[in-house]
Amino acid sequence: MSESEVKQYSFSEVKKHCDNKSAWIVVQNNIYDITSFLNEHPGGEEVLLEQSGKDASDPFEDVGHSSDARELMIRYKVGEIIESERKPVKQKNTDWSSGNDTVSSDNSFKSWIVPIVLGILATIIYRFYFL
Ligand code: HEM
Repeated sequence: MSESEVKQYSFSEVKKHCDNKSAWIVVQNNIYDITSFLNEHPGGEEVLLEQSGKDASDPFEDVGHSSDARELMIRYKVGEIIESERKPVKQKNTDWSSGNDTVSSDNSFKSWIVPIVLGILATIIYRFYFL
């Protein structure tokens, strides 16, 4: 039953809403009617109009929008892309607290080994051939 509450649209329907009279964008298979948000967008109206009528998931994620922005967009949601046209949602790991610190310090230790070994090798070769 809840399925019918969310309206489903195809990309060909979304494509019709591509100007400042009616602007829809798709982010992660959700459709947003951002017509009234165009001149409120902190990133400017231009970028939104450029993405209107199409899938803006990549540019949206590339900007690194804040969680505030993600909360804000919920109120503009008007539907979802029909099942057969949905694209796989890319999971961006924006959870900085999940901490890969130990891994990265491991990596930085490993990154020292190569120059050290190369240095030792170079010293041996130098001594062997030139002294
Ligand atoms: C409903 C959809 C969107 C909402 C609610 C939204 C909201 C916001 C908000 C609140 C900001 C201020 C910074 C932040 O809090 O992250 C922002 C900045 C920005 N947004 Fe969006 N945005 C949307 C879609 C897009 C799209 C599709 C693009 C396409 C490229 C875009 C490009 C930008 C840019 C370039 C900035 C400026 C970043 C900066 O100055 O550092 N936004 N947006």
